[in-house]
Amino acid sequence: MVEIFSSRWRLPLQHHPRWLVGLLTTHRTLVLVLWIVGFALVFGWQLSSMDGVAFFRRGPVARPVPRLRPVAYNLTDFGGVGDGKTLNTEAFERAVEAISTLGARGGGQLNVPPGFWLTAPFNLTSHMTLFLAEGAVILGIEDESYWQLMPPLPSYGYGREHKGPRYGSLIHGQNLKDIVITGHNGTINGQGQVWWTKYKKRILNYTRGPLVQLMWSKDIVISNITLRDSPFWTLHPYDCKNVTISHVTILAPVSGAPNTDGIDPDSCEDVLIENCYICVGDDAVAIKSGWDQYGIAYGRPSANITLRNLTVQSVVSAGISIGSEMSGGVSNITVENLIVWESRRGIRIKTAPGRGGYVRNIFYRNVTLDNVRVGIVIKTDYNEHPDEGFDPAAVPIIKNITYSGIHGQGVRVPVRIDGSEEIPVKDVSFQDMSVGLSYKKKHIFQCSFVEGRVIGSIFPAPCENLDLYDEQGRLVKRSLSQNNTDIDYDI
Ligand SMILES: *[C@@H]1O[C@H](CO)[C@@H](O)[C@H](O)[C@H]1NC(C)=O
Ligand SMILES: *[C@@H]1O[C@H](CO)[C@@H](O)[C@H](O)[C@H]1NC(C)=O
Ligand SMILES: *[C@@H]1O[C@H](CO)[C@@H](O)[C@H](O)[C@H]1NC(C)=O
Ligand SMILES: *[C@@H]1O[C@H](CO)[C@@H](O)[C@H](O)[C@H]1NC(C)=O
Ligand SMILES: *[C@@H]1O[C@H](CO)[C@@H](O)[C@H](O)[C@H]1NC(C)=O
Ligand SMILES: *[C@@H]1O[C@H](CO)[C@@H](O)[C@H](O)[C@H]1NC(C)=O
Ligand SMILES: *[C@@H]1O[C@H](CO)[C@@H](O)[C@H](O)[C@H]1NC(C)=O
Ligand SMILES: *[C@@H]1O[C@H](CO)[C@@H](O)[C@H](O)[C@H]1NC(C)=O
Ligand SMILES: *[C@@H]1O[C@H](CO)[C@@H](O)[C@H](O)[C@H]1NC(C)=O
Ligand SMILES: *[C@@H]1O[C@H](CO)[C@@H](O)[C@H](O)[C@H]1NC(C)=O
Ligand SMILES: *[C@@H]1O[C@H](CO)[C@@H](O)[C@H](O)[C@H]1NC(C)=O
Ligand SMILES: *[C@@H]1O[C@H](CO)[C@@H](O)[C@H](O)[C@H]1NC(C)=O
Repeated sequence: MVEIFSSRWRLPLQHHPRWLVGLLTTHRTLVLVLWIVGFALVFGWQLSSMDGVAFFRRGPVARPVPRLRPVAYNLTDFGGVGDGKTLNTEAFERAVEAISTLGARGGGQLNVPPGFWLTAPFNLTSHMTLFLAEGAVILGIEDESYWQLMPPLPSYGYGREHKGPRYGSLIHGQNLKDIVITGHNGTINGQGQVWWTKYKKRILNYTRGPLVQLMWSKDIVISNITLRDSPFWTLHPYDCKNVTISHVTILAPVSGAPNTDGIDPDSCEDVLIENCYICVGDDAVAIKSGWDQYGIAYGRPSANITLRNLTVQSVVSAGISIGSEMSGGVSNITVENLIVWESRRGIRIKTAPGRGGYVRNIFYRNVTLDNVRVGIVIKTDYNEHPDEGFDPAAVPIIKNITYSGIHGQGVRVPVRIDGSEEIPVKDVSFQDMSVGLSYKKKHIFQCSFVEGRVIGSIFPAPCENLDLYDEQGRLVKRSLSQNNTDIDYDI
């Protein structure tokens, strides 16, 4: 499924025309016809084993590119060469430079035509639309010496993996407004394989860079593109406001691609993520707001975020996560019409003593869990800290979490809410839940230090930590054992 574009099929494209010329001059027509048929079969087979090149199959005429800004440029206007080998960093930089003068006139559009556009990291500018045509692929250069180092994110204090600076992102922006990245499903490909290998061999000295990172920016639209094989987190809006992400496909190998989260809204407000397909090597979406003492000091929450109509897969981690870095607080999150398939965990909140902050007013509605090992997870001992300077007395608050319309099949442990004496989970609600099980034993609805309620009947039967109400909201049975602990990580 995670087909990586390789020289295997690029070479015939470049060399066959020369052979064709040779054939024309030396062979008879019959031989030529047979050869063309054979070539077409092989070529067609090679194309069909690839995705992202559909435009070849429909002939050479690509879909016309719409004009979305008063001024539009073509990357080739700035010397871009889409051969997969020429470095296009300067072409992108010159284009961005030209567009940066157009703000007062409604901004500019940069069209990236079909082709493979290799580049080092570059910055966007305000009032800019980056349009990736059908068959356009921006390729991140693999050599890390081209990747600029940047100061750590203030709310993390560190690079995420190493002390000190971190690599910036392939496509980057700071203090911008009115940014659009869209297209006819063109691709930004981070060529992360080389980064994952170096990370696993521990030969990188700095934290890997994300694929697309926008910081301290607002009015952002990212739609109708494919992001794949990021070195690290794929799409990272950091301390941004008013972000819409729609019809985006995000792909990375589901194993062996460490930390390739799909989307990480981090200290962001007013975010809508909808109609996306995400299948990656870590969390598909992880809502964050900074790490321990650094996140507490920075103090920027993530709030008012809606996720809807997402289909996600995470074999290593979870479909939708909140945390574990949530020290600035996370609130007012709605997750609806979600499908999580063939994954380790469905929807997860993760935190630890030292984080501080809060996770509250979280609403999950209409979630389908299709062959997921653990469905609903709250984990309060995710003890991964930037350094010894964290304050163990800074305990997060977790409250007002609603699960409504949770369905599915092939789930091993539908619920594992592991609160603790220090971090009890408060005010959780379950309503309209029916999950088909793959492990028909007791203790699959696991709870510890949980206070809350079940409204109406649910399947499987809830843990005894929760109060029971009928469909009309009348109390049926009050729990006498909210602090009961029945957690088993072995099933
Ligand atoms: C966009 O491209 C990706 C990757 O090739 C593909 O999986 C997806 O189906 C495409 N989306 C649309 C809407 O064509
Ligand atoms: C962009 O440039 C390429 C190469 O010169 C050309 O084939 C293409 O038609 C141009 N596209 C637009 C929209 O001008
Ligand atoms: C991108 O912008 C940031 C912030 O202004 C700056 O530090 C960095 O040098 C820029 N990177 C490039 C490649 O121009
Ligand atoms: C990491 O640092 C060591 C020691 O300074 C150096 O030899 C090595 O080349 C660096 N590796 C990378 C990938 O930058
Ligand atoms: C949010 O951003 C979009 C796209 O730039 C813009 O049309 C809209 O007006 C912005 N909303 C607010 C409240 O500023
Ligand atoms: C994005 O794709 C969707 C679904 O194919 C389509 O409805 C929408 O118009 C597209 N948006 C843009 C900006 O092309
Ligand atoms: C929440 O964010 C959406 C954009 O996603 C915006 O339209 C809405 O006004 C915001 N609501 C509040 C209460 O700020
Ligand atoms: C839901 O998202 C998928 C992409 O994952 C898209 O193809 C479909 O059109 C979306 N459905 C609606 C109702 O927007
Ligand atoms: C969060 O939701 C509450 C209750 O609906 C509302 O009062 C508050 O303004 C919202 N906060 C944000 C930041 O959207
Ligand atoms: C629930 O979500 C599924 C999958 O996204 C969708 O097909 C269905 O229409 C949703 N149901 C409701 C009532 O919104
Ligand atoms: C609990 O969260 C819901 C959203 O899920 C919100 O509407 C409600 O106002 C919150 N309750 C309190 C007491 O804040
Ligand atoms: C349950 O634990 C909380 C602390 O998390 C404590 O305040 C409360 O008294 C305990 N309740 C019982 C009945 O032991």
